[in-house]
Amino acid sequence: MALMAMESGTVDPAFWSGRRVFLTGHTGFKGSWMSIWLQTMGAEVTGFALSPPTEPALFETARVAQGMTSVIGDIRDPGALTRALVDADPEVVIHMAAQPLVRSSYDDPVGTYATNVMGTVHLLEAVRAARSVRAVCVVTTDKCYENREWPWGYREDEAMGGHDPYSNSKGCAELVVSAYRRSFFSKGMVALGSGRAGNVIGGGDWATDRLVPDILRAVEADQPVLIRNPLAIRPWQHVLEPVAGYLVLCQALWNRPAISAEAWNFGPRDEDARPVQWIVERLCALWGDGAVWRHDERTQPHEARYLKLDISKARAGLGWQPRWSLGEALGRIVSWHRAWAADDDMAARCRAEIADYMTTLPA
Ligand SMILES: NC(=O)c1ccc[n+]([C@@H]2O[C@H](COP(=O)([O-])OP(=O)(O)OC[C@H]3O[C@@H](n4cnc5c(N)ncnc54)[C@H](O)[C@@H]3O)[C@@H](O)[C@H]2O)c1
Repeated sequence: MALMAMESGTVDPAFWSGRRVFLTGHTGFKGSWMSIWLQTMGAEVTGFALSPPTEPALFETARVAQGMTSVIGDIRDPGALTRALVDADPEVVIHMAAQPLVRSSYDDPVGTYATNVMGTVHLLEAVRAARSVRAVCVVTTDKCYENREWPWGYREDEAMGGHDPYSNSKGCAELVVSAYRRSFFSKGMVALGSGRAGNVIGGGDWATDRLVPDILRAVEADQPVLIRNPLAIRPWQHVLEPVAGYLVLCQALWNRPAISAEAWNFGPRDEDARPVQWIVERLCALWGDGAVWRHDERTQPHEARYLKLDISKARAGLGWQPRWSLGEALGRIVSWHRAWAADDDMAARCRAEIADYMTTLPA
């Protein structure tokens, strides 16, 4: 990989206009934001996923299905996935469907591996069966690295690992991607990259056992927020940051496959890797209304203490860089959720947020 920005680092609406895109996980939090962004640029999007994983869900709140072909199906079913993908005749594939929660993976390790590892194998087999695909972005996570509790960020060439089944399944998915790239996609027909994002926050996330949705649920119910690991450090970022990263990566996979078909970290600036306590204090202050938090001292399953991403490669190779600070992201989350509670048009709100993001210059 040449250490110079080969791409502009910005999402190019002209690239996406009329582009046929197959997106798995479109009913989820990140998938809904990705679908809305692709729709605003005029892409022809086919989504494939289970029904929305939460109630409420951004997918319904922002009427995401209205601007795309939405197929409800299971990536553990290779026949259904291949049929949907081949029928969509896509040029670009973005794979986001997953069981994405650490704590759920302790309850259901088999289901987590089936979805996250074999689901990725099924997706890549479907790509092989289709003749139309030129670029594939597989979404994994910062947790795919073997965590050594380092206070510095992991780089893309560091070892895959993962203590819990979720993290480990994503490390396995990365190994699957690497094997498929070398075994089946090395002749240049399909450029296969992967994106490893940080801890994603933003309006429209109602998942359980995730920090920001847990905080918002508690403050909305006038309950104290219970925090399991106040000192844990994570690379927090607004959802539009990695979604932009995946889009820029797809552009690079299309335009310069030989140098971009690799793994890429999309994390925040170093100063936005903050302890949980910092987030909860700021969110409570922004929310007002007497919101308070306390430490939940019950025994908890293992979670890493430090996790940071080194994003030098995406800055240098893709020209991508973070635009919104963590403080800005938290302010936007509170106003997004207040607008939702006030019954605003959340589809319009999401489109406006994407337009704001597009016009913010990288910090
Ligand atoms: N949210 C984060 O902080 C974060 C951070 C890093 C990486 N990621 C990754 O980003 C992706 C999206 O995460 P999210 O936060 O939007 O999660 P989410 O739970 O909101 O969405 C998951 C999506 O996957 C679909 N899905 C789950 N199991 C499926 C199956 N067996 N078949 C078909 N579809 C299935 C769901 O229906 C949903 O559309 C995941 O791959 C996740 O691992 C998330």
